[in-house]
Amino acid sequence: MDARPVLFFDSGVGGLSVLGAARALLPAMPAVYVADSAGFPYGTKSEQEIGARVPALLGRLAERYRPRLIVIACNTASTIALAAVRSALDLPVVGTVPAIKVAALHSATRVIGVLGTDATVRQPYVDDLAARFASDCHVLRHGSADLVSLAEAKLRGEATDPARYAAILDGLFRQPEGARIDTIVNACTHFPLVERELQAAAPHPVRFVDGSDGIARRIAFLTRGQLWPDAPRPGLAVFTGGAPQSPSLVATLARYGLGTVETL
Ligand code: DGL
Repeated sequence: MDARPVLFFDSGVGGLSVLGAARALLPAMPAVYVADSAGFPYGTKSEQEIGARVPALLGRLAERYRPRLIVIACNTASTIALAAVRSALDLPVVGTVPAIKVAALHSATRVIGVLGTDATVRQPYVDDLAARFASDCHVLRHGSADLVSLAEAKLRGEATDPARYAAILDGLFRQPEGARIDTIVNACTHFPLVERELQAAAPHPVRFVDGSDGIARRIAFLTRGQLWPDAPRPGLAVFTGGAPQSPSLVATLARYGLGTVETL
């Protein structure tokens, strides 16, 4: 038996959308989920700040939790720091990058929206994905810190105002060609957690896509042949910025198999 966990990393609770997909495919996978709540939010930070913080923190976390693999369950951290993390650590690192390729496979109108954080949507990484996989599409981008806050609030059990989701989507639909968007990439791991709210606020039916199922398959591929514990083990949630105060969030963590909470 091999008890080494898979370590999932995000600035907040967004990476739970990735953990959920991975758990569905690999139910016996032991997991440590780290929310860098002391550094939250990432999406409004500079490339320099993210580039300095994420590799150093992941180095410390790898020493402490000895994972078999790390998943950077955050588009902002991945599009800025994935290469630096990979070269600093001697273990497999899976990143989360905007699912533009998946969106291009589905879009009939060839107009795709990319909804991410401000930091993600300005990355050259996104230009590159659009050029490689969606060169015949209009790829419209919008960055929203408010949508990250809404997802965090929802998981704390707070009611969120539907008008705020509509205002965020306006940032895509009101761009030239925006009225023809038929597919939106949730390019921030927080956003699948509020997909129902986004769907309800969209001016017409839209398909939302994200990378979580692809990441789950990638974890399965990279750990093929490895042993897992015989029975699922309670996972650990780690917060760098103080323990979560919301009972609703603690209950949600438990639903994702994260029965123990620790602070760093
Ligand atoms: N969940 C993160 C992402 O996928 C970022 C949220 C934030 O801290 O701004 O980009």
